[in-house]
Amino acid sequence: MNNFEYMNPTKILFGKNQIENISKEMPNKAKVLLLYGGGSIKKNGIYEKVIAALEGFEVVEFGGIPANPEYAVLMEALTIIKEQNITFLLAVGGGSVIDGTKFLSSAALFKGDTPWDILTQNIRTSKGMPFGTVLTLPATGSEMNSGAVITRAETKEKLGMGGPGLFPQFSVLDPTVIQSIPKRQLANGITDAFTHVLEQYMTYPIDARLQDRIAEGILQTLIEIAPTIIKDPTDYKAASDFMWSCTMALNGLIQKGVPTDWSIHAIGHELTALYGIDHARTLAVILPSHYQYNFEAKKEKLAQYAERVWNITEGTLDQKAKAAIVKTEMFFNELGIDTKLSDYTNDYMGTAQEIVRRFTARGWNGLGEHKNLTPSDVEKIVTMSY
Ligand code: NZQ
Ligand code: ZN
Repeated sequence: MNNFEYMNPTKILFGKNQIENISKEMPNKAKVLLLYGGGSIKKNGIYEKVIAALEGFEVVEFGGIPANPEYAVLMEALTIIKEQNITFLLAVGGGSVIDGTKFLSSAALFKGDTPWDILTQNIRTSKGMPFGTVLTLPATGSEMNSGAVITRAETKEKLGMGGPGLFPQFSVLDPTVIQSIPKRQLANGITDAFTHVLEQYMTYPIDARLQDRIAEGILQTLIEIAPTIIKDPTDYKAASDFMWSCTMALNGLIQKGVPTDWSIHAIGHELTALYGIDHARTLAVILPSHYQYNFEAKKEKLAQYAERVWNITEGTLDQKAKAAIVKTEMFFNELGIDTKLSDYTNDYMGTAQEIVRRFTARGWNGLGEHKNLTPSDVEKIVTMSY
């Protein structure tokens, strides 16, 4: 195992009715900005529960944060934070609302003139305005990590940010919230979390046995609960496993001490920025071509994944590794997720070249666990995914 440091300061409040307990986690006399998305929380009762739990606090609201949180909208919220002397942020939503809140946490204390620089100049946030979250959509892991991804429609960009100051102080994980999530978003959540695990696993063996087995355990759990989640999101036991698996997939634990390869996410973000395709679906488009293209470098881990996660025990190492890629794509397809770019847009010609242009301009010349995946490799992977 490689050397590592690990700290995760986010307190988790897991289970039914935990929303009731948020006031105990917030600073006394906090002036709270309650942030939410397009209004789902007003239809499923979560809004009322949060408002009841915030009794005694001064609360200002900001709704309308869109999926793929938009910089221009967040800048309106930043004005409110400054004008109304807000001291605590409370995100109630999925990854988009939580990521938007992380941006605001950072921007509220940012000294420069243009908060977009936080994203373009890779400025790490060591201290942000304190915030908590009430998760309404298991998927991203944002509720227990310190990263965020922000979109800017004006320039069709989608960029990441983060830093040790951007962990939520607390996050409420109440599995009953998934009951109102549309099937499409449930499938997205499973796919996103599944790919998060694979990005931290599908590299090369370094005998990090525990990390491998935790990762495989999350993958097996997601595979096991997926049909129930899609069929019956009121199944509390399955919902609990789903929610905790998504959090564990990206709270920093399984990536410690092992090589990681975030290429699928790096490429996928461009597909969302260019075409507005749901985040998880972009991953399902890129993953099969990425693993086929990098087959020689990844085949040992692919074969281990085949055996331990999919119970593929027959055949040579190469055959098992190949079967694992096919199985993964089938799993996404069974969730109702298409795995070709042409399933989402007719306008895909030139996509690979545009992504290469962007990566080259940003100096992203070596992606992957060996930092040797060049823009020309990326061009081939994206073209294979058409
Ligand atoms: O906006 P509302 O009305 O709340 O509706 C949302 C939205 O339309 C709806 N929804 C959420 N909870 C619901 C619900 N509908 C009914 N009942 C509920 N309980 O679902 C839709 C999608 O929500 P969104 O927050 O966009 O989804 P998700 O959680 O998948 O977040 C995606 C964003 O997170 C970023 C992605 O790039 C994308 O921008 N990611 C963040 C990461 C991180 N911070 O660590 C890592 C990920 O890889 C990812 O990049
Ligand atoms: Zn993701």
